Order: sequence, then structure tokens, then C-alpha cells
Amino acid sequence: MNLPKTVKIVEVGPRDGLQNEKRVVATDTKVELIARLADAGLTAIEATSFVSPKWVPQMGDNAEVMARVTRRPGLDFPVLTPNLKGFEAALAAGADEVAVFGAASESFSQKNINCSIAESLERFEPVMDAAKAAGVKVRGYVSCVLGCPYEGEIRPDAVALVAGTLFEMGCYEVSLGDTIGTGTPGKTQRMLEAAMRRVPVARLAGHYHDTYGMAIANIYASLELGVAVFDASVAGLGGCPYAKGASGNVATEDVVWLMNGLGIGTGVDLDRLVDAGAWISEVLGREPASRVSRALLAGRRAK
Ligand code: HMG
Ligand code: MG
Repeated sequence: MNLPKTVKIVEVGPRDGLQNEKRVVATDTKVELIARLADAGLTAIEATSFVSPKWVPQMGDNAEVMARVTRRPGLDFPVLTPNLKGFEAALAAGADEVAVFGAASESFSQKNINCSIAESLERFEPVMDAAKAAGVKVRGYVSCVLGCPYEGEIRPDAVALVAGTLFEMGCYEVSLGDTIGTGTPGKTQRMLEAAMRRVPVARLAGHYHDTYGMAIANIYASLELGVAVFDASVAGLGGCPYAKGASGNVATEDVVWLMNGLGIGTGVDLDRLVDAGAWISEVLGREPASRVSRALLAGRRAK
């Protein structure tokens, strides 16, 4: 089988992972987490989001986080920007990559960003223009690609339409979000085949939440179709505030273990990543959700 030789992992723990935490996580903790993830070899770390602090209070320290991260060549800190206001704040905070986020489900779009899918795409236009003028790269997200917490089934064509529109608007990559983690491998491949008719596979990323434990299987199914970018969250942190019951993204440790086993390069040092995941889990007062991490930590303790 012709699987990719390397994959890029976009670490979304500091944003997707932490945005749903009930207790406010200290800015110091966020900055240290980002530093530990960079030390583990991750080169794209979604650092925060420039959304309304009334909607997502946990990300209210966005500018401070951006001011305090240590930048270096080859290390990107993309941030979410739902509208021009968010983009302008992100730019002022020094962001050189942003992400707009839409959905394949009307109800989720309303709950998450308070507008219809068509309105969201209109809101993204000025963001795309301003980003182009400022030389800022824009990534696009589509949520609910394999199911919606309000509408249930989502048609692959609906995903392809939004993904294709984001790509045509100028998003350099479109990340396909299984927001509630209900997808299974066959369904994932049917969704991807539809999206690939509108967006080249090299421009697609998989963003799979692991609520039903299917994310690794869905990643493997995506690799089979040539997808080579995957979003993941250290220790499996997270969930979406507007998708009740949804658990975190696939754990980055699990993705690295899978890729190591397949001989696919990620550039990530698994031991350091496990340390970062164990550290943030301890700060948050819980065990890492990653099965790989728990197994490796138990192995270390047994030595
Ligand atoms: P709205 O209430 O419709 O916005 O919210 P508005 O334009 O009417 O403005 C209302 C107030 O918000 C105003 O302030 C604005 O200034 C302020 P007021 O006059 O009341 O004091 N405002 C802002 N403040 C800071 N930053 C901004 C901003 N925009 C307006 N950017 C809005 C619309 C999009 C802002 C809101 O719905 C929102 O912030 N939503 C964010 C929801 C969110 O962050 N969800 C989680 C991330 S998405 C996700 O997790 C899915 C993903 O992981 C993929 C997957 O798993 O599927 C990406
Ligand atoms: Mg997500």
C-alpha cells in the first residue's frame, strides 16, 4: 500500500484542548505547554483563538499568550479568527497564520459562530482579503464533517461544498473536523472522496475527535487516500464548547505511535511528547486520555 512517507501533525492542544476547560488555565501554563510541545518537535502549534471572550472565556488571554510564546524559524503558531475583528486582534498580536472556521451543518454553524453557513463564508471574505494584504496564511476548518450533534447525519456533498469554497477563497489547507467523533473508516473515506473532488488531497487535513475511539482508525483510512496532515491534541485534551459531550481530539501521542509503527516520519520525539502530556494532565488534575501515553508511563514506572 502506498502510504505517505511523512505526515505533518498540527498540535491543537493549547486551543482545541484547553478551550473547553471549566477552570481558567493560567497563561503561564499555556505558554509552558506550548514550549514543551515545541521542544518535542511539533512545528505547528495552534496557540489560541481570537474569538469573543464572552463565548469562550478560556481563550481571553489570547494576546498575552501570543506575546509570550518563543518564536523561531520553522515553528508556526496558527490561531483561530472567526471574523475581521478577530483577525485584526490576531495580527496586532503578531500572528502570521490564522484559521477561519465554518461548518457543514447549519445548526452547528448557528450554535458555534451565531450565523448561517452562507453568512460565515461572507464574514470570511474580508478576513481573506486582510490576510492576503498582510502576508498571513489562512487555514480553513469545516466542522461536523462526519456528523452533527444537532442534525445527525451530514452528507459528504455538504462537506465538499464548504471545503471547496474555503479552498477557492484562498485557504492554503482545509481541515476536516469530525467534531463529535462519530465517524468510522468507511464513512471517513466516502467523505474524503467527496472533498477530494473539490480540494486536492495535499491540501486536506484530518481533524478527528476521539469520542467513540475511532479517530486512529479514521486516520489510517485517511492515510490510505493520501491525506498527510492530521490535527491532534496532546494527552487527548479537549472538546468543543458547542458540541456537548464531544471529547478531545485524537491524542498526539497515539498518532505518533501509529506513524512510528508504520515507518511514517513525524519529526516528533515521543518520549518528550509523553512528558509534555503527563505534565499538562497533572496540572489539570487528571490522567492523560492517551492510551499510548498511559501505557508508556506505566512501563516507565515499572522499571
Ligand atoms: P456574535 O455575538 O454574533 O458577534 O458572535 P457580534 O459581531 O454580534 O459581536 C458581539 C460582541 O462580540 C461585540 O462586543 C463584539 O465586539 C464582540 P460587545 O459590543 O457586545 O461588547 N466580538 C468579538 N470580541 C472578540 N473577538 C472577536 C469578536 N467578534 C465579535 N473575534 C462570534 C460571533 C463569532 C464572535 C462568536 O460566536 C464567537 O466568538 N464564537 C466562537 C466560538 C468558538 O470559539 N468555538 C470553538 C472553536 S471552533 C471548534 O472548536 C471546532 C474545530 O476544532 C473543528 C472541529 O472540531 O470541528 C475548529
Ligand atoms: Mg476540534
